[in-house]
Amino acid sequence: MTMTNLQKEISKRRTFAIISHPDAGKTTMTEKLLLFGNVIREAGTVKGKKTGKFAASDWMEIEKKRGISVTSSVMSFPYHGHHVNILDTPGHEDFSEDTYRTLTAVDSVVMIIDSTKGVEPQTIKLFKVCRMRGIPIFTFINKLDREGKDPLDLLSEIEEVLGIESYPMNWPFGMGKRFLGIYDRHNNDFVHYKGNEEEEILPYDQIENYPQIANNEVFQASQDELLLLEEAGNEFDVERVAKGELTPVFFGSALANFGIKTFFDTFLQFASEPKPRKTNEGLIDPDNEAFSGYIFKIQANMNPAHRDRIAFLRICSGKFERGMTVHVSRTNKAIKLNQTQQFMASSRETVDVAYPGDIIGIYDPNVYQIGDTLTAGKEGIEYHELPVFPPEIYKKVRVKNVMKSKQFRKGIEQLVQEGAIQLFYQDSNDDIILGAVGQLQFDVFEYRMEGEYNVSIEFTTLGGRIPRWIGQKDVDSRLFDSRSLLVRDRFDRYAVLFENEFTLRYFTDKNKDIELIDLLESNDYKSV
Ligand code: G4P
Repeated sequence: MTMTNLQKEISKRRTFAIISHPDAGKTTMTEKLLLFGNVIREAGTVKGKKTGKFAASDWMEIEKKRGISVTSSVMSFPYHGHHVNILDTPGHEDFSEDTYRTLTAVDSVVMIIDSTKGVEPQTIKLFKVCRMRGIPIFTFINKLDREGKDPLDLLSEIEEVLGIESYPMNWPFGMGKRFLGIYDRHNNDFVHYKGNEEEEILPYDQIENYPQIANNEVFQASQDELLLLEEAGNEFDVERVAKGELTPVFFGSALANFGIKTFFDTFLQFASEPKPRKTNEGLIDPDNEAFSGYIFKIQANMNPAHRDRIAFLRICSGKFERGMTVHVSRTNKAIKLNQTQQFMASSRETVDVAYPGDIIGIYDPNVYQIGDTLTAGKEGIEYHELPVFPPEIYKKVRVKNVMKSKQFRKGIEQLVQEGAIQLFYQDSNDDIILGAVGQLQFDVFEYRMEGEYNVSIEFTTLGGRIPRWIGQKDVDSRLFDSRSLLVRDRFDRYAVLFENEFTLRYFTDKNKDIELIDLLESNDYKSV
């Protein structure tokens, strides 16, 4: 059966995100991949904390100040017959719903682990989201040029802490000063580490022709480990990889540009192409000729000079052509998509055609919301991709100068619509409470209120809280107090912010008739 042009384009797409704990090497890896893609010519363009150069994806002033990437950006480039889309996710301690939402827009994930540290807290958090969605996860164990944990221990850490089975696609021979190279089990090659970003690929079958390697004591010692892997390790199973049940593991060094090419080539071979996605009318195949996609992120004021709002659209089916008219399912309005962009970090290029798996930015004249489905020829469908993520930190907010109340409300409304922060009202007095997944969102919020709306605000912290939504429409407000704070969300649904696990348990025991919903466990509680 011959493939249609649409199917050919889909089969080329590899849309993925790189996740890691801060400092594991995500930026360094991204930079190396962009070098392969000829997107950048010189290392250090993506980031150089110490040289004062900043990531191309640093859009906002605050990012520059902190030297981190707050908002997720998209980088696209062709590579060896593939069309690669890398979605950047913030790597610092604080991250937002934006990070989680970005993970809904990818088809696979690369998880970077620092070999000297093992599995770290933020990796666990991000991993859980990927796991929930059944996304294929590829692991890259970084910094083999340094003395790190024992590779076998790292594998068991991944299996035990993260609860996913692993299959080493390659195996390191030594590490740090004694690092000899990696045995590429998949291609049966030996990749010899020569330092200075140099590697040499040798046929493993003929390794006896290279006595400086074959007779090296590190080489000999590694043979036992290999035997152990062959006998006791998991089997490689493409289908289990695709379901996110088995993670292929690669070893290397991003900084030394070692093992990266082998990793990337193998990753592209096994990473998922765009798959059918769930809607209210069942699964929609990417090669369905009718165009459809959904908005997973909205970013206002990306360019302060233009005061624009850009909605990020993940294309799920059909072909996108600039100038086409699409329907917004929520409002049933028709919109002509003229101003559309594809991203290479902060530079944007007009995009004329795009295919499933691609992310495009569309100019938003204030008509879109996060979660909106856009279609052409398939009106009425809605993608159900974006669960609400319960905020973990809460703060009351008020405007310092009451004369600025109007701008204050406008700012809150727009920034909440962007989805970086969630809005609640204290039921007893209508005080405004903001909830976010991390502290950074409050800093960004304050900064943007000041910079974009000219409003100074004041926070009173409520600290970490455990939120539960109430199933019932009516509640008796006398049951609640400051430890179990009754609030309404922006859709007027009741929720309770519990001070800690203890107050939650106490309340649950005393009020068995009140249905408390944990958003992390309830998939059908829609955000928008
Ligand atoms: P992140 O985006 O995940 O936060 O990590 P990033 O790439 O910024 O890397 C964090 C630090 O680890 C950087 O050093 C980077 O050079 C170093 N690094 C990344 N990969 C490797 C590797 O394979 N081996 C070794 N030895 N180091 C690696 P830094 O000093 O914090 O920053 P910089 O001044 O070098 O940018």
